[in-house]
Amino acid sequence: MPPSILEIPRSQALAVISDTHANITALSAVLSDIDRRGVKHIVMLGDVAGKGPSPCETLDALRSRNIPCIFGNWDELLIRSLRTDGKPELPGMRSALEWQRAQLGTERLEWLASLPYALDIPRFGGLVRLLHASSLDVWQRVRENDPLEKFYELFDATPAVGLDAPTPIAVGYGDIHTVLVRHLRSIPEINPAARGALVFNPGSVGNPLDLPVPSYAILHGSQQLELSLIRVPYDRDLECRRAVQSGMPQLEEYLVETRTGHYRQRIG
Ligand SMILES: [Fe+2]
Repeated sequence: MPPSILEIPRSQALAVISDTHANITALSAVLSDIDRRGVKHIVMLGDVAGKGPSPCETLDALRSRNIPCIFGNWDELLIRSLRTDGKPELPGMRSALEWQRAQLGTERLEWLASLPYALDIPRFGGLVRLLHASSLDVWQRVRENDPLEKFYELFDATPAVGLDAPTPIAVGYGDIHTVLVRHLRSIPEINPAARGALVFNPGSVGNPLDLPVPSYAILHGSQQLELSLIRVPYDRDLECRRAVQSGMPQLEEYLVETRTGHYRQRIG
Protein backbone atom coordinates (compact mmCIF):
# COMPACT_ATOMS: atom_id res chain seq x y z
CA MET A 1 0.00 0.00 0.00
CA PRO A 2 1.49 3.41 -0.96
CA PRO A 3 1.78 6.25 1.61
CA SER A 4 -1.26 8.37 2.46
CA ILE A 5 -1.83 11.30 0.09
CA LEU A 6 -2.09 14.80 1.54
CA GLU A 7 -3.59 17.29 -0.91
CA ILE A 8 -2.42 20.90 -0.58
CA PRO A 9 -3.31 23.59 -3.14
CA ARG A 10 -0.39 24.05 -5.53
CA SER A 11 -0.01 27.76 -4.86
CA GLN A 12 0.17 27.36 -1.09
CA ALA A 13 3.30 26.86 0.99
CA LEU A 14 3.88 23.94 3.35
CA ALA A 15 5.88 24.17 6.58
CA VAL A 16 7.70 20.95 7.52
CA ILE A 17 8.60 20.56 11.17
CA SER A 18 10.11 17.56 12.95
CA ASP A 19 11.26 16.05 16.23
CA THR A 20 9.39 18.25 18.69
CA HIS A 21 10.43 15.91 21.55
CA ALA A 22 8.13 17.26 24.25
CA ASN A 23 9.58 20.79 24.06
CA ILE A 24 6.50 23.04 24.06
CA THR A 25 8.59 26.19 24.43
CA ALA A 26 10.34 25.58 21.11
CA LEU A 27 7.20 24.34 19.36
CA SER A 28 5.26 27.46 20.41
CA ALA A 29 8.02 29.69 19.03
CA VAL A 30 8.13 27.80 15.72
CA LEU A 31 4.34 27.76 15.29
CA SER A 32 4.27 31.52 15.96
CA ASP A 33 6.94 32.02 13.30
CA ILE A 34 4.97 29.91 10.79
CA ASP A 35 1.79 31.87 11.57
CA ARG A 36 3.59 35.19 11.23
CA ARG A 37 4.67 34.18 7.71
CA GLY A 38 1.10 33.30 6.79
CA VAL A 39 1.87 29.63 6.03
CA LYS A 40 -1.38 27.68 6.47
CA HIS A 41 -0.23 24.08 6.04
CA ILE A 42 2.12 22.21 8.38
CA VAL A 43 3.34 18.59 8.50
CA MET A 44 5.33 17.10 11.38
CA LEU A 45 7.83 14.29 10.68
CA GLY A 46 7.66 12.34 13.94
CA ASP A 47 9.10 12.08 17.47
CA VAL A 48 6.31 14.14 19.01
CA ALA A 49 7.29 13.33 22.60
CA GLY A 50 10.18 11.73 24.47
CA LYS A 51 13.23 13.51 25.91
CA GLY A 52 11.62 16.81 27.02
CA PRO A 53 9.44 17.89 29.96
CA SER A 54 6.13 18.65 28.20
CA PRO A 55 4.90 15.59 26.26
CA CYS A 56 1.18 16.29 26.74
CA GLU A 57 1.31 19.99 25.92
CA THR A 58 3.40 19.30 22.80
CA LEU A 59 1.18 16.48 21.51
CA ASP A 60 -1.99 18.44 22.27
CA ALA A 61 -0.68 21.55 20.50
CA LEU A 62 -0.06 19.56 17.31
CA ARG A 63 -3.33 17.69 17.57
CA SER A 64 -5.48 20.72 18.34
CA ARG A 65 -4.28 22.37 15.12
CA ASN A 66 -4.90 19.19 13.10
CA ILE A 67 -1.26 19.09 12.02
CA PRO A 68 -0.65 15.77 10.22
CA CYS A 69 2.08 13.87 12.08
CA ILE A 70 4.23 10.94 10.93
CA PHE A 71 5.34 8.06 13.15
CA GLY A 72 8.89 8.33 14.56
CA ASN A 73 11.27 6.07 16.45
CA TRP A 74 10.57 7.72 19.83
CA ASP A 75 6.87 7.33 19.13
CA GLU A 76 7.60 3.65 18.57
CA LEU A 77 9.50 3.45 21.87
CA LEU A 78 6.64 5.08 23.77
CA ILE A 79 3.90 2.83 22.39
CA ARG A 80 5.74 -0.43 23.16
CA SER A 81 3.76 -0.51 26.41
CA LEU A 82 0.55 -0.89 24.34
CA ARG A 83 1.79 -3.94 22.46
CA THR A 84 2.10 -7.33 24.10
CA ASP A 85 4.33 -8.45 21.20
CA GLY A 86 6.45 -5.27 21.38
CA LYS A 87 10.23 -5.07 21.54
CA PRO A 88 11.92 -4.95 24.96
CA GLU A 89 12.89 -1.63 26.56
CA LEU A 90 16.30 -0.23 25.63
CA PRO A 91 18.88 -0.53 28.43
CA GLY A 92 19.00 2.61 30.56
CA MET A 93 15.81 4.03 29.03
CA ARG A 94 13.14 2.47 31.20
CA SER A 95 12.62 5.27 33.75
CA ALA A 96 12.62 8.02 31.11
CA LEU A 97 10.12 6.18 28.91
CA GLU A 98 7.87 5.26 31.82
CA TRP A 99 7.82 8.90 32.96
CA GLN A 100 6.79 10.05 29.46
CA ARG A 101 4.13 7.34 29.20
CA ALA A 102 2.69 8.21 32.61
CA GLN A 103 2.35 11.85 31.53
CA LEU A 104 0.75 10.96 28.19
CA GLY A 105 -1.75 8.33 29.31
CA THR A 106 -3.30 5.62 27.19
CA GLU A 107 -5.45 7.76 24.90
CA ARG A 108 -2.54 9.91 23.70
CA LEU A 109 -0.34 6.81 23.29
CA GLU A 110 -3.02 5.24 21.11
CA TRP A 111 -3.08 8.42 19.02
CA LEU A 112 0.71 8.08 18.55
CA ALA A 113 0.23 4.44 17.55
CA SER A 114 -2.22 5.52 14.83
CA LEU A 115 0.24 7.79 13.00
CA PRO A 116 1.15 6.90 9.39
CA TYR A 117 4.63 5.81 8.31
CA ALA A 118 4.79 8.27 5.40
CA LEU A 119 2.81 10.98 3.60
CA ASP A 120 2.94 11.85 -0.10
CA ILE A 121 2.08 15.37 -1.25
CA PRO A 122 1.35 15.90 -4.97
CA ARG A 123 3.44 18.76 -6.39
CA PHE A 124 4.66 19.71 -9.88
CA GLY A 125 3.43 16.55 -11.51
CA GLY A 126 5.13 14.34 -8.95
CA LEU A 127 5.13 13.56 -5.25
CA VAL A 128 6.99 14.98 -2.27
CA ARG A 129 7.39 12.11 0.21
CA LEU A 130 7.69 12.84 3.93
CA LEU A 131 8.86 10.19 6.41
CA HIS A 132 10.80 9.96 9.67
CA ALA A 133 14.16 8.21 9.18
CA SER A 134 14.29 6.22 5.93
CA SER A 135 12.15 4.18 3.54
CA LEU A 136 13.15 1.04 5.50
CA ASP A 137 11.86 1.73 9.03
CA VAL A 138 11.93 4.37 11.78
CA TRP A 139 15.28 3.10 13.16
CA GLN A 140 17.38 2.96 9.98
CA ARG A 141 18.50 6.54 9.61
CA VAL A 142 20.38 8.45 6.92
CA ARG A 143 23.17 10.47 8.47
CA GLU A 144 24.80 13.59 7.08
CA ASN A 145 28.06 11.83 6.11
CA ASP A 146 26.55 8.64 4.73
CA PRO A 147 27.40 7.67 1.12
CA LEU A 148 25.07 8.88 -1.62
CA GLU A 149 23.64 5.37 -1.98
CA LYS A 150 21.90 5.85 1.38
CA PHE A 151 20.24 9.03 0.15
CA TYR A 152 19.03 7.26 -2.99
CA GLU A 153 17.45 4.57 -0.82
CA LEU A 154 15.07 7.21 0.55
CA PHE A 155 13.33 7.08 -2.86
CA ASP A 156 12.92 3.32 -3.01
CA ALA A 157 9.61 1.48 -2.82
CA THR A 158 9.93 -0.88 0.16
CA PRO A 159 7.59 -2.96 2.32
CA ALA A 160 7.55 -0.02 4.78
CA VAL A 161 6.33 2.60 2.29
CA GLY A 162 4.60 0.15 -0.05
CA LEU A 163 6.08 -2.08 -2.74
CA ASP A 164 4.05 -0.23 -5.38
CA ALA A 165 4.91 3.27 -4.11
CA PRO A 166 5.89 5.59 -7.00
CA THR A 167 9.29 7.30 -6.96
CA PRO A 168 8.90 10.79 -5.49
CA ILE A 169 10.57 13.96 -6.84
CA ALA A 170 11.69 14.97 -3.35
CA VAL A 171 11.97 13.35 0.07
CA GLY A 172 11.91 15.14 3.40
CA TYR A 173 12.89 13.25 6.54
CA GLY A 174 13.66 14.00 10.19
CA ASP A 175 15.27 11.90 12.93
CA ILE A 176 18.89 13.13 12.80
CA HIS A 177 18.09 16.57 14.33
CA THR A 178 20.40 18.22 11.79
CA VAL A 179 19.48 20.50 8.88
CA LEU A 180 20.52 18.96 5.56
CA VAL A 181 19.94 19.42 1.81
CA ARG A 182 21.17 17.14 -1.02
CA HIS A 183 20.54 17.17 -4.76
CA LEU A 184 21.00 13.67 -6.16
CA ARG A 185 23.05 13.98 -9.32
CA SER A 186 26.20 11.89 -9.05
CA ILE A 187 25.12 8.27 -9.33
CA PRO A 188 21.85 8.13 -11.31
CA GLU A 189 22.48 4.50 -12.27
CA ILE A 190 21.46 3.48 -8.72
CA ASN A 191 17.92 4.79 -9.12
CA PRO A 192 17.46 6.62 -12.45
CA ALA A 193 14.00 7.81 -11.47
CA ALA A 194 15.52 9.73 -8.55
CA ARG A 195 18.01 11.64 -10.73
CA GLY A 196 17.88 15.34 -9.98
CA ALA A 197 15.70 14.74 -6.95
CA LEU A 198 15.89 16.72 -3.75
CA VAL A 199 16.48 15.38 -0.24
CA PHE A 200 16.00 17.67 2.71
CA ASN A 201 15.92 17.44 6.47
CA PRO A 202 14.35 20.35 8.39
CA GLY A 203 16.33 19.55 11.54
CA SER A 204 14.59 19.47 14.90
CA VAL A 205 12.17 21.84 16.60
CA GLY A 206 12.52 20.53 20.14
CA ASN A 207 15.95 18.95 20.29
CA PRO A 208 18.25 20.50 17.64
CA LEU A 209 21.72 18.95 17.66
CA ASP A 210 23.58 21.04 15.09
CA LEU A 211 22.91 24.42 16.69
CA PRO A 212 20.84 24.79 19.88
CA VAL A 213 18.26 26.73 17.85
CA PRO A 214 15.03 25.16 16.51
CA SER A 215 14.79 24.78 12.75
CA TYR A 216 12.15 23.96 10.17
CA ALA A 217 11.57 24.07 6.41
CA ILE A 218 9.05 25.70 4.09
CA LEU A 219 8.27 24.15 0.70
CA HIS A 220 6.92 26.65 -1.79
CA GLY A 221 7.14 27.75 -5.40
CA SER A 222 4.44 27.71 -8.07
CA GLN A 223 6.66 26.75 -11.08
CA GLN A 224 9.29 24.59 -9.41
CA LEU A 225 9.95 23.22 -5.95
CA GLU A 226 11.66 25.75 -3.71
CA LEU A 227 12.85 25.21 -0.17
CA SER A 228 13.55 27.63 2.67
CA LEU A 229 15.31 26.53 5.86
CA ILE A 230 14.54 28.65 8.88
CA ARG A 231 15.97 28.99 12.40
CA VAL A 232 13.82 30.29 15.24
CA PRO A 233 15.62 31.54 18.38
CA TYR A 234 13.56 30.86 21.51
CA ASP A 235 13.68 31.13 25.29
CA ARG A 236 16.05 28.26 26.19
CA ASP A 237 16.19 29.39 29.84
CA LEU A 238 12.42 29.02 30.12
CA GLU A 239 12.59 25.52 28.63
CA CYS A 240 15.35 24.56 31.08
CA ARG A 241 13.29 25.87 34.02
CA ARG A 242 10.32 23.81 32.81
CA ALA A 243 12.55 20.75 32.67
CA VAL A 244 13.87 21.31 36.21
CA GLN A 245 10.36 21.80 37.58
CA SER A 246 8.92 18.75 35.79
CA GLY A 247 10.73 16.08 37.79
CA MET A 248 11.71 14.31 34.55
CA PRO A 249 14.42 11.62 34.51
CA GLN A 250 17.65 12.26 32.55
CA LEU A 251 17.40 15.95 33.38
CA GLU A 252 21.11 16.77 33.07
CA GLU A 253 21.37 15.22 29.60
CA TYR A 254 18.37 17.23 28.46
CA LEU A 255 19.70 20.50 29.89
CA VAL A 256 23.06 20.03 28.15
CA GLU A 257 21.42 19.23 24.81
CA THR A 258 19.01 22.16 25.14
CA ARG A 259 21.73 24.67 26.03
CA THR A 260 24.50 23.47 23.70
CA GLY A 261 23.09 21.13 21.02
CA HIS A 262 25.66 18.51 22.13
CA TYR A 263 24.16 15.05 21.71
CA ARG A 264 24.01 12.69 24.69
CA GLN A 265 24.96 9.72 22.43
CA ARG A 266 22.10 7.43 23.31
CA ILE A 267 19.52 6.78 20.60
CA GLY A 268 18.65 9.96 18.65
FE1 LIG B 1 14.12 12.50 17.26
